Amino acid sequence: MIFRQLFDSESSTYTYLLASRRGGEALIVDPVLEKVDRYLQLLQELDLKLVKAVDTHVHADHITGLGELRDRTKCITVMGEQSGVDVVSMRVSEGDRIDIEGLALDVMYTPGHTDDSYSFLMGDRVFTGDTLLIRGTGRTDFQNGSAAAQYDSIFNKLLKLPDETLVYPAHDYKGDMVSTIAEERDHNPRLQVPSEAAYVEIMENLNLSNPKMMDVAVPANLNIGLRQDDLERMGLSLSCGDAVSQLGDPSLILVDLRDDSERTKNGVIPGSVHAPYSDLDENINPGGMLHELAKSTERRLVFYCAFGERSAMAVDAALSAGIDDACHISGGMDAWKAAQGPLA
Ligand SMILES: [Fe+2]
Repeated sequence: MIFRQLFDSESSTYTYLLASRRGGEALIVDPVLEKVDRYLQLLQELDLKLVKAVDTHVHADHITGLGELRDRTKCITVMGEQSGVDVVSMRVSEGDRIDIEGLALDVMYTPGHTDDSYSFLMGDRVFTGDTLLIRGTGRTDFQNGSAAAQYDSIFNKLLKLPDETLVYPAHDYKGDMVSTIAEERDHNPRLQVPSEAAYVEIMENLNLSNPKMMDVAVPANLNIGLRQDDLERMGLSLSCGDAVSQLGDPSLILVDLRDDSERTKNGVIPGSVHAPYSDLDENINPGGMLHELAKSTERRLVFYCAFGERSAMAVDAALSAGIDDACHISGGMDAWKAAQGPLA
């Protein structure tokens, strides 16, 4: 396995790059905007293809690299379902899995620092975001934070993991890089409390000043969505209403770009073919399944995904691959469900 812990000294943020092998797919956790060039260089040096970029929560102390990485690598952006970001490609919740080739992250909802804070368990290690830090815990006094929720997340979820589980946080201000669950249970000063009330008492009396980047970072991080209006202007976007009324039209091929886990959880549009976004390149280029299907049947490819982000990128890719007739369902499955479109 390739595992890299990268550091942004401005915000003291740790970013993690994961892959199962050289030449394979990679995933990045909590990337920082200013470090994107460095990540891209490392990905190239290790011959990795970035397929997913994940944030543990909406950060207040740095601007996320998610949007920039998506624009430059066409990767899928992933956050928890509670995140107030305008658009991410894929939203996860407790019990989901985030898969890439050869690796999987188990999704744990661990609110408290913010109401959209998640931790991700990968075998012997857990990425705890700002929920559990090394000898500390993330502040709970803004972004819908809750000390009581954090107590529950830490004591009833994270500390229930095996003792030897490695703890990789999103930040460290002292130079520590990794800890374990047992070590934090025994030595984290904030966790030496007899009750939830005692923990809340500690957290409510920290008297911290706001992070210096907060006024810039939070609004920027809430607006990382891909602009989909260009496609609309070019007539390459179908509204959900139009898509519902054209369902069953033999001149269209509906293409679902989502992962298996999303299809199981949210259902599929009847009659659609499944071609996951991670395989888009091979499917869309000459010789690929979608390319040949579109060319031989002269039907229009209609892409859809969860929120319209992957499908918008797929329309671009289809046009670049020489397919002239492709469009997407704007707003994706989220909008489809809101419009009460039928599900299979
Ligand atoms: Fe944070």
